[in-house]
Amino acid sequence: MNPETNPYAPGAGTPPPELAGRDAIPGEARIAIQRNMSGKSARSFMFVGLRGVGKTVLLNEVQAIAEEHGAITDFIEVSTNEPLSKTIVATLRAALLKLDRIKGVSEKVKHALRVLKSFVGAIKVKYEDVEFSVDVDAEPGTADSGTLTRDLAELFVAAGEAARVRNTSIVMLIDEIQNLQAEEFEALIMAIHRTDQKRLPFLVVGAGLPLLVRLTGEAKSYSERLFEYPDIGPLDAAEARRAIVGPASEADVEYTEGAVNAVVEQTKGYPYFLQEWGYQAWNIAEGSPIDRSHIDAASKSAIRRLDQNFFRSRYERLSEPQKAYLMAMAGLGPGPHRTGEIAKAMGKSSSQLGPTRDALINNGMIYSPRYGLAAFTVPLFDEFMKRTQS
Ligand SMILES: Nc1ncnc2c1ncn2[C@@H]1O[C@H](COP(=O)(O)OP(=O)(O)OP(=O)(O)O)[C@@H](O)[C@H]1O
Ligand SMILES: [Mg+2]
Repeated sequence: MNPETNPYAPGAGTPPPELAGRDAIPGEARIAIQRNMSGKSARSFMFVGLRGVGKTVLLNEVQAIAEEHGAITDFIEVSTNEPLSKTIVATLRAALLKLDRIKGVSEKVKHALRVLKSFVGAIKVKYEDVEFSVDVDAEPGTADSGTLTRDLAELFVAAGEAARVRNTSIVMLIDEIQNLQAEEFEALIMAIHRTDQKRLPFLVVGAGLPLLVRLTGEAKSYSERLFEYPDIGPLDAAEARRAIVGPASEADVEYTEGAVNAVVEQTKGYPYFLQEWGYQAWNIAEGSPIDRSHIDAASKSAIRRLDQNFFRSRYERLSEPQKAYLMAMAGLGPGPHRTGEIAKAMGKSSSQLGPTRDALINNGMIYSPRYGLAAFTVPLFDEFMKRTQS
């Protein structure tokens, strides 16, 4: 069929034609945003899940809802090579300038800008290249101690107070949160805790791989009260069916029963894979209905595409010992696996493999769902490993 009218949306953060299986989330996010904006306690969200399950899509959705409610928003993606404090400076600078432009001078807004300037002054000692050009003096004694946990909390409070006098809120969406350093994560949690205690209109919504749970560490007891951690997983059979059938039926294209079942089975309900399979099947079929033979051809193309991009790009960044570790995991099946079992399969001791395992956790390839266990963060990665070997 015509690729130009193909409704499926394989990609990163690309809104799916049908947001299947996440029905409750937008409504709950709306409530949290409204409550936070009106000075009531609100639990925010941390979307946790594997690669390609739709975490970024949900963050974008929450951002749109926040904007509908008149919040000032910004979407941040944490990278491993840029410290959080620098990213936050840019976000809050833009937010505060926006608040400053609203009619009527506000001392709270000016104050927040001065606090931001102090914050920048303090982190400048560490990162010389922080950019900040706003024509205000710094606020000595606030957010300039040089201790991130303290300074960030003071900055968030000042920004939240500025938003409150302007009857709006600041909503920060933070993606790939597992890339934060432990110290940054702790500072972020403590800062959110401060704004929450003061009932300020300042909300942080996050998303990341399951290994972010490892980051909680000391900050854990707080963070469990501040956030819901909805588990963003694969779709169950009925939801997966909706994700694949819905978009086509909008265009009067149907699937045979056998075709749908095959897609659901082969993708195991993973949202990104569903989009890839649907996309290929649409292009391959000559018209309605899409049948089993189209799906067989589509899975070949989809797997080829995934191998070339989604899987291989990650695989190629790894060192040889890391590849060997993942190969041993794959040999044991989809997982999770006991680290002792993996070591045994490699003929080594678990402690010998410790550094390799840590490196794989740090670069986001595996995570530990429970002590002593290791699992892939990329769905169906075990099957890819087996394909590369053969
Ligand atoms: N609920 C859903 N139903 C159907 N398709 C979805 C759903 N959520 C996401 N998708 C599709 O899945 C793909 C991946 O989405 P997204 O980039 O948000 O995943 P992610 O969890 O952020 O992945 P990563 O960890 O790699 O950043 C996109 O093509 C998107 O359209
Ligand atoms: Mg993402």
